Amino acid sequence: MKDSKISSFTDVQEELKESHKAPIAESKYKAHELAKSQREISIAEFFEKNRHLLGFDNKRKALLTTIKEAVDNSLDACEEADILPDINIEIMEMGTDKYRVIVEDNGPGIVREQIPKIFAQLLYGSKFHKLKMQRGQQGIGISAAVMYAQLTTGKPARITSKIHPNEPAHYYELKIDTQKNRPEIINESEKEWSKDHGTRIEMDLEATYFKGRQSVDEYVKQTAIINPHVTVIYQPPKGEQLMLVRASDKKPRLPEEIKPHPYGVELGMLIKMLQATEAKTIKQFLRQDFSRIGDKASEEILENAGLMNNTKPKDMSRDMAEKLIHGIRNTKIMMPPTDCIVPIGAELLEKGLKKEVNAEFYTSISRPPNVYRGNPFLVEAGLAYGGSLPKEGTLDLMRFANRVPLLYQQGGCAFTESVTSTNWKQYGLQQSGKNLPVGPIVLVVHIASVWVPFTSEAKEAIAHYPEIIKEVRLALQEIGRSLSKYIGKKKRVGEEMKKRSYIETYIPHIAEALKELVGFDSKEEEKVRVLLASLLEKKRGALEAMEFDPSKNKEYDEEFAKIGRDDAEQGEQIE
Ligand SMILES: Nc1ncnc2c1ncn2[C@@H]1O[C@H](COP(=O)(O)OP(=O)(O)OP(=O)(O)O)[C@@H](O)[C@H]1O
Ligand SMILES: [Mg+2]
Repeated sequence: MKDSKISSFTDVQEELKESHKAPIAESKYKAHELAKSQREISIAEFFEKNRHLLGFDNKRKALLTTIKEAVDNSLDACEEADILPDINIEIMEMGTDKYRVIVEDNGPGIVREQIPKIFAQLLYGSKFHKLKMQRGQQGIGISAAVMYAQLTTGKPARITSKIHPNEPAHYYELKIDTQKNRPEIINESEKEWSKDHGTRIEMDLEATYFKGRQSVDEYVKQTAIINPHVTVIYQPPKGEQLMLVRASDKKPRLPEEIKPHPYGVELGMLIKMLQATEAKTIKQFLRQDFSRIGDKASEEILENAGLMNNTKPKDMSRDMAEKLIHGIRNTKIMMPPTDCIVPIGAELLEKGLKKEVNAEFYTSISRPPNVYRGNPFLVEAGLAYGGSLPKEGTLDLMRFANRVPLLYQQGGCAFTESVTSTNWKQYGLQQSGKNLPVGPIVLVVHIASVWVPFTSEAKEAIAHYPEIIKEVRLALQEIGRSLSKYIGKKKRVGEEMKKRSYIETYIPHIAEALKELVGFDSKEEEKVRVLLASLLEKKRGALEAMEFDPSKNKEYDEEFAKIGRDDAEQGEQIE
């Protein structure tokens, strides 16, 4: 296009003709043409096209995501109603790549009028507007599963829910009208259900079932590890039913909902809050709508912002809101309350690990709470080592967020970065560069937060907030130290056992030599042999310190002793 100044439609036409050699309609601007195709996009239509964003990018993952969304909801609902969760999961093969998924819980149930919207309208839920530690956040999970099932098999989702033993159960067959993002009720009835209360969802979908990593089997196992208070009965499409009984009858403490912390609020959000608030003055707004702001802090903020205490929130301009943000950032405000996050606890985490992973050594840690973008969070980690875990290959990393296993997107997760950027050599493991270390290890990392920063709507990986990466690394360092102590002891035990076995081998020879040299008879020779053997048993060095039972650990792990020696030679310091 020429550089000349364009001043009229004719000029535009001329310019376009020249550059594209394509005539355009005399009567309209191009923008008018574009306007014809510009219209609202329903959220359901958007995700219908972009189902990979919700975790439905292939048939294998679709099966896992469907079950995960239903189970997450069941566990959240049970916990919110203070019920020990009993969850039934069933997968039935219905034809080539066609499966029926059934998830049933003993939760509080769902009131009749809410059922259609919950299961057949995207972005409808009770959790999005709350800052509370829960598995679900977005209000999209289960309706996305219903939509995927409908798209791939054309069949409606079947839901049964009951809220009290004296109430009938309600049964619905539901589809989503994706153009309007509204529920379409195919069938509705009252039903007898022997259960006191709970919810059951049944969906037919296109999927494939595999075992191994990233499978539903793995998800169920990991769910049991991280939720020791849950019982899961799982019927895979092939093979035996699995019953994972709770390791603890203790229900986790109910997390408190909190208000946003001022340090985490950005300008756009603040403007929205100013419009929505019921507070009459800006000072009242600060005290009512945020956590950790009292009389003194609110006055200090307003002074630092150069704003009047009695300004009406609705009269606040964009500039004034920006000043308020400035005031907040320049005022020292207490960190958010941390009783809103409920850790699993080191002890229970270890118990869960012991239940599902057969190893010889376990250690765990629950870190104190911290804050990212004003949101409280807490990191826990557990480690199982040795025993029947495979010696070859890298450490098996299990990631969890608010007690939900994360099976996909390991590479893009902040947890993985924390693990690979930790120097595991100093804890007695092999590691090449910034890779996962090698060894017979299952490592569990859990983040509990009022808002988990996922990298996408599919809730598969944690975003790379430096505060989170740092906390995970601190947790890893602590369990790394316990591990290195164990590996060190194991090495010493191995060396001691080796020396002992040499001596044991020579004892009969010594006794025999003495018999020859000094002229002992057979009785005296036997006496010497017993005496030397009992001397050897009188005191146990490393074996005693470790309460090591050699009869249970006959197979000494030469490989690990060697790793320990190599590291010592390299002059690596154990922290
Ligand atoms: N089994 C259930 N028992 C009781 N309530 C349920 C159950 N399943 C879903 N709900 C309710 O339905 C809502 C919507 O569920 P949905 O899975 O779509 O979103 P969410 O759990 O809020 O967030 P996310 O999209 O992150 O999963 C929930 O917020 C909850 O209030
Ligand atoms: Mg959900």
